[in-house]
Amino acid sequence: MALDPKTLLCEAKALQEELVTLRRDLHAHPELGSCEVRTTSLIKKYLEELGIEVRPCTETGVLGILYGGKPGKTIGLRADIDALPIQEETGLPFASKNAGVMHACGHDLHTASLMGAAKILSAHRDALCGNVKFFFQPDEEGNGGAERMVRAGCLQDPDVDAVFGGHSSTGRIAGHYGLKYGKTYAASNPFTILIRGQGCHGAYPGSGIDSIAVACQVVTALQTLVSRRIFATDSAVVTVGSFHAGTAGNIIAGEAELKGIIRTLGPEMREKMCRMVKETAEGVAAAMGASAEVQIRTSYPGVVNEDGFTALVQQAMAELVGKEGIELETVPNMGTEDFGYFMDGIPGCYCSFGFGDGRNECRFPAHGPYFRANEAGLAYAAALHANVAVRYLNGGR
Ligand code: NI
Repeated sequence: MALDPKTLLCEAKALQEELVTLRRDLHAHPELGSCEVRTTSLIKKYLEELGIEVRPCTETGVLGILYGGKPGKTIGLRADIDALPIQEETGLPFASKNAGVMHACGHDLHTASLMGAAKILSAHRDALCGNVKFFFQPDEEGNGGAERMVRAGCLQDPDVDAVFGGHSSTGRIAGHYGLKYGKTYAASNPFTILIRGQGCHGAYPGSGIDSIAVACQVVTALQTLVSRRIFATDSAVVTVGSFHAGTAGNIIAGEAELKGIIRTLGPEMREKMCRMVKETAEGVAAAMGASAEVQIRTSYPGVVNEDGFTALVQQAMAELVGKEGIELETVPNMGTEDFGYFMDGIPGCYCSFGFGDGRNECRFPAHGPYFRANEAGLAYAAALHANVAVRYLNGGR
């Protein structure tokens, strides 16, 4: 029973030391989004030595393909590989050697874990019914490297039938997994609203249209969308984070520019919220004799875990760590994650891997200079990637 989940976990644990070495190497040499040159060459070399086909996919992304010994479906496993513009302050012996750049979101952990899964699965390729694609994705923090990989064709040839990935969490202990059904991460839509009034002398407002007064009303009206236009059980955030207008205290400003972001859960709320922001800004401006030019961009699509595939992931987790090792979440995250691009018409699941220690060392938040993780989580993350792939491709085994 080479593909038994317990065996996979044992094999992952046997790799633990190697995964720690890989992770520390990545951690010491972090690279920002779209600059992951060293990282990428390390991954490529590792996959090639395992006999996994490597295809370039975007400038700094890596696509690995493992062909199973028997025909079947294809699953995609994803890890993001980029770091953040933060000066590391942990004082760890393997701290970042690149000034001002740090793996402060655990993407080094994700990368090393998926490399480990590639090693485990490649040793069992003959028994696999189908194929495994490894998505080592650049630029998650910045400009949606996932979208670029999808556009570059990572989901085709062979076509991917399901995608899996996860994020490290130091809030749960190593050996535990977090999972949520359904809406998991928010979609985001950045917007710009240009209010056009008519500038004039500050003493004679009647001869112009005050774009600042109009923009204030627009901001106020936008703040009622979440409180008054959607149900309390639905989730959305509309933030106006930038407001610029005017040049002097005695001039009525002819134009005002607002910038913000809409975050929503699920495609229906996304469509509704974007439409209401546009209608509200245009309507309020028109009512006050001005005009509003509303531009809403489409950014990260959100993550909605598909029920059937998520149930399979839950089962794969339970096989490794038992029911007590699974933390089922009920509250979605209004943050964003570009994993959703891979779920383009195919089922997917994005979970969380425990990398905490239950004590104080790993208490520092991600995206901060003191971020630390419990590396004991590496083997568990690698084992889960492998077991999800095996369970999906080989069914009940
Ligand atoms: Ni992250």
